[in-house]
Amino acid sequence: MILTALVTVLCFIILFFIYTTRTRSKDEPPLDSGFIPWLGHALDFSRDAAKFLARMKKKHGDIFTVRIAGHYITVLLDPKSYDAVLQDCDSLDYSNQKVVQRVFDLNWPNKNQVDGRLWMKQHFQGQNLVHLCTLMNKNIQALVRSPDTIHNTTNWEKDGLFDFCYRLLFKAGYLTLFGLEQNGTTVNEVYKEFRTFDGLLAKTARSTLSLVEKRTACSARQHLWNLLSLSYHSRPAVSSSWQQEYHQYLQEMGLDKETQRRAMLLQLWVTQCNAGPAAFWLLGWLLTHPKAMQSVRAEIERIMPNSAECLNNTHKTPVFDSVLNETLRLTAAIFINREVKKDMVLDMADGKAYRLRRGDRVCLFPYLSPQMDPSIHKEPEKFKYDRFLNTNGTEKSDFLKDTNKLKYYTLPWGAGANICVGQHFAINAIKQFVFVVLTSLDMELCDPNSSMPPLDPSRYGFGMLQPDGELPIRYRTKK
Ligand code: HEM
Repeated sequence: MILTALVTVLCFIILFFIYTTRTRSKDEPPLDSGFIPWLGHALDFSRDAAKFLARMKKKHGDIFTVRIAGHYITVLLDPKSYDAVLQDCDSLDYSNQKVVQRVFDLNWPNKNQVDGRLWMKQHFQGQNLVHLCTLMNKNIQALVRSPDTIHNTTNWEKDGLFDFCYRLLFKAGYLTLFGLEQNGTTVNEVYKEFRTFDGLLAKTARSTLSLVEKRTACSARQHLWNLLSLSYHSRPAVSSSWQQEYHQYLQEMGLDKETQRRAMLLQLWVTQCNAGPAAFWLLGWLLTHPKAMQSVRAEIERIMPNSAECLNNTHKTPVFDSVLNETLRLTAAIFINREVKKDMVLDMADGKAYRLRRGDRVCLFPYLSPQMDPSIHKEPEKFKYDRFLNTNGTEKSDFLKDTNKLKYYTLPWGAGANICVGQHFAINAIKQFVFVVLTSLDMELCDPNSSMPPLDPSRYGFGMLQPDGELPIRYRTKK
């Protein structure tokens, strides 16, 4: 009896391995399945995806297939060939349904996702964009100069730069898009829960939470659902915010109340998780690179002698823009994923062609190439504030790989079907925030010799990277 059971289990295990293991055909990309059955390279990948993929690139070149937790993923790292993936909507499908389901517990059919994206796009362009940027600028000014930020006007305040930037930009973004502020409690509570939820997001997406972490993440998510639905149900009927319009749109789509509040948390995360970390890296590099800081300050003084104004589109800021591009080149790290809907052939820019199998995935990782590719950007790991400036002071957009001018030389906003629809709003918010900080506050490093904290390697793939640690700063009102 026991022997029969053992033999059956063994047969199942053998069948399972035969079924889940594959060999490479000669017209397919190099295959690297890893040694661990089914899991493949999952552990290395979730520990530090950039390091793992850089190792694979060195071993196999610009295209290869790896096995990660039962999935076969073809990774493409040649920016000259990216359009072959980005422009193929026939054989490749853009969907992040599974991650959205796991992280936000939201069953979001593909059609809703496509329609929702269109709605978002309309609400972050034209007059809507102008209105949102004006509101955001007012909120940024009010928050940076508020007594909550500057408790008294003479002494230095100490803080960590990451929390300072994330907190203030989150609050400004939340007030602009989501909430009417009455007494400050809601936004502080939302921020606290949001940081807990966001801190566990990478692990939630990869299903690697411990039991305790799972409880914490679920409780933060539940709390956020409640806080968010409170904020649109308690509004006066006459008010019309971005959130209320979005809520109305969800109702018109026929989604039930539970789905509505889950979709609202997804949008809170999408709209608030990147700008704060981006502002942190930008300000951090300015504080640790005096020449860059000097050049940005000189540009601000040249274009805007009156610091009470807001930055707007008529102000030309090539130095500031180069610093922002350089910041995003170094710290924006999304995966652009597609699912292979039917067997296909992928044509590379170098003339080679590879067969991809239905059911596999394709992943572009612009962080490794073009952004950190030494053949495109010299000394790619270094912050060079003028990397995106021509010698005549205009914006530089000519970057070469193998003597070819590149269309994609940095891709912080994604591309194709998943390009960031909030790009212009985000650029305005980050620049405005840094501008208000530099013109309203004296800010310096607590230790003048400190350098930027390292990157948190678990965040590759989820948008802006975050630091592993803080950068202690002090600030006071500008005299
Ligand atoms: C530095 C700041 C930001 C960066 C680097 C960034 C980058 C991105 C990227 C790469 C995506 C595609 C994600 C994917 O499909 O996997 C995305 C999507 C999106 N972003 Fe941003 N983003 C930033 C800030 C913002 C802000 C401030 C907003 C709005 C207030 C915003 C709104 C959106 C929306 C609505 C989507 C979803 C589009 C969809 O449903 O497919 N983003 N962003």
